[in-house]
Amino acid sequence: MFETKPDIAGRAEIEILVNTFYDRIRADEVLGFIFTDVAQTNWTTHLPKMYAFWETVLFRTGGFTGNPIAAHAKLVPQTPMGRAQFDHWLQLFRGTVDDLYAGERAEHIKNCAADMANVIYSRINQVPDPRFDPANLTPEQRARYAQYKSQAQPAAP
Ligand code: HEM
Repeated sequence: MFETKPDIAGRAEIEILVNTFYDRIRADEVLGFIFTDVAQTNWTTHLPKMYAFWETVLFRTGGFTGNPIAAHAKLVPQTPMGRAQFDHWLQLFRGTVDDLYAGERAEHIKNCAADMANVIYSRINQVPDPRFDPANLTPEQRARYAQYKSQAQPAAP
């Protein structure tokens, strides 16, 4: 028999997702110590912050007011925060979503996580965002961007 998983409907599903994800993070060989030892995360405050973050991303409610770039930039001098760490984070996040939910919002939250992982990774390491790295552009994007460039107005004096 097929098991049909629910989609993310609101705050309740987000709390379950976040709790499950950080249970896995805490037990994870690659990333666990960054929270427990490096940042010495206070889970009593971090988990509600992450409920608010994802609620804000998905539903525009939740009232998240943090600074994710600064929070991760702070870690860079203390521990590797490279592509390998972000890819592993994403793999854990996608796996957690897929174990619990299926549907449009489940897909959307995974896409948002991937976009934000790219943004955070590229900003804190001062490397180009891989989505906009010329090496990763499709021929169609390359042609379109070249057209924007040729239409650009000279800057006002
Ligand atoms: C290598 C991957 C990552 C690591 C090791 C990591 C680690 C951390 C740590 C240690 C904190 C601080 C927790 C504390 O207060 O003690 C944090 C905060 C946070 N992280 Fe990540 N993170 C990663 C990727 C991501 C990604 C991809 C996202 C978004 C999709 C994200 C979203 C956040 C948010 C929203 C906060 C709270 C920021 C604030 O306090 O304003 N993280 N992260």
